[in-house]
Amino acid sequence: MTDDTRAHEPSGKNRGRTVHGEAANAGHRVLAPDDAEVEAYLEQALHAAPPQRVETEAPEQLDTVAVLDFGSQFAQLIARRVRELNVYSELLPHDTPMAELERRNVKAVILSGGPSSVYDEGAPKADPALWSGRIPVLGICYGLQLMALELGGEVVASTRREYGPATLRLTRTDGLFAGINGEQPVWMSHGDSIARPPQGFTATAQTDSTPYAGLADGSRNLYGIQFHPEVVHTPIGREVLRNFVVEIAGVQPTWTAGNLIDTTVAEIRERVGEGHVICALSGGVDSAVAATLVHRAIGDQLTCIYVDHGLMRKRESELLRVTFERDLGMKLVMVDARDRFLRRLAGVEDPEEKRRIIGDEFIRVFEEEAAKIGQIDFLTQGTLYPDVIESKTSDTKTSQKIKTHHNVGGLPSDLRFKLIEPLRSLFKDEVRRVGLELGLPDAMVQRQPFPGPGLAIRIIGEVTAERLDTLREADWIVIDEIKAAGLYRSLWQSFAILTPVRSVGVMGDGRTYANVVAVRAVTSDDGMTADWARLPYDVLAKISSRIVNEVPGVNRVVYDISSKPPATIEWE
Ligand code: XMP
Repeated sequence: MTDDTRAHEPSGKNRGRTVHGEAANAGHRVLAPDDAEVEAYLEQALHAAPPQRVETEAPEQLDTVAVLDFGSQFAQLIARRVRELNVYSELLPHDTPMAELERRNVKAVILSGGPSSVYDEGAPKADPALWSGRIPVLGICYGLQLMALELGGEVVASTRREYGPATLRLTRTDGLFAGINGEQPVWMSHGDSIARPPQGFTATAQTDSTPYAGLADGSRNLYGIQFHPEVVHTPIGREVLRNFVVEIAGVQPTWTAGNLIDTTVAEIRERVGEGHVICALSGGVDSAVAATLVHRAIGDQLTCIYVDHGLMRKRESELLRVTFERDLGMKLVMVDARDRFLRRLAGVEDPEEKRRIIGDEFIRVFEEEAAKIGQIDFLTQGTLYPDVIESKTSDTKTSQKIKTHHNVGGLPSDLRFKLIEPLRSLFKDEVRRVGLELGLPDAMVQRQPFPGPGLAIRIIGEVTAERLDTLREADWIVIDEIKAAGLYRSLWQSFAILTPVRSVGVMGDGRTYANVVAVRAVTSDDGMTADWARLPYDVLAKISSRIVNEVPGVNRVVYDISSKPPATIEWE
């Protein structure tokens, strides 16, 4: 699978921060993938208590590569790179005991890098049993230094941090470096370095700044590298990881989307038995894939609810109906609530008021629909692996946050639904791969994020049926042209905004006085910070002329060149 995130490596510890060091979204608004937002509404409509999550368990039969997290910003990326080799990998705390690793069927361990020095007070450590050689271990950066120190080598604190590209000279071309030779560009980021390796270790690679850029003690199954194999700036990274996981540790690369679907479907079937499951569809990829997996397992015991609030983009609701009802044969309750939402939004201009009304109306609609369904035993949610990891380590998890937010006010706790979260071990790009394998359409699987309140927060001022139509047409042209230029997947979001400004123009012989449409296209890693996209002029020109010519009531198009911060991605 192509990995679109390679182009957007995490951009350091300032990610998601304002220039003042605050979280970029602090206090601004609910930041949630639209799926999570809609799921939260359904949860509240069912008066469900905040979900109780269970620990992730790798399915027993799976050979697993554990990445022990020493705090590197790249720790997740290491797990993803291993998964790209078709080997299941999970991120675990740095001090996970050996017994737990064995219980999880871990066949190889990778120690991530980290910001600490091994000499820091309270520097993170690993279970010493790891050095026994029972399971092959690869230390990266801090992980290597820790291994060297713990086994009697010498690590020196450096005054200068080496950061950036370096040239690696291989002194051994077996083991970790089998099939690789000569000099190779790699990417370094470390403070401390190794002055003397522990007994039994030999140097396998060097750079100008260190003779120990690679170390190995093959007899004990212990390996280490000073450079980062997980980043794109290390082209041999994939080969090094493959050598470790497949050749040295002997893990078979059998973890594919197809296998994953088979095992997940079997697990869901067993868990649900004769029970009844409900799922809220938002039009987003996570809920679509989760619902499709559950449907494959239990067919008509699943009911999906989709609320058409009339704030979706052109043809989106139609695509949803065709896909789920006609093509997949799912039991889909599609509620046409367009008029209800419009009525409640009439005369409302304040963005937060729009959000509140939309959330509230969603919950009402769900409540009515759930009452018609009868017995419900399980809720399906599209929770992803990064949410699961984050919810263990911090309380900033976005969907968790909006759920608690929605659940304040003492909801009855006696009603408990069991959760089915079939995507909880997957990263977003893996969910997309599974979605494609399940036959979901590209337009759904590759969709850019879309806010839960939909077009309502892209119409500045009052939302009316007419203004929605205008925006829908303009938005369609933006997406159409961005896709035609092959740019859709490289952009975090691209869309149109209907401004309340009217301006003068000429068309034919007459003066016009019509709407101004703004176009917004941004690049981003995670939506917390964003940069305006440098779209080619000819793409902008095409978008502009098509909107003015094809959308009635619009005579001017402007391009938003603000970054976040200080602007936000959405205008409201
Ligand atoms: P901002 O505009 O805050 O947006 O830079 C960051 C990301 O969040 C999305 N967004 C929302 N998503 N409900 C949602 O589900 C909302 O109310 C909402 N507001 C913003 C936005 O599209 C972007 O991806």
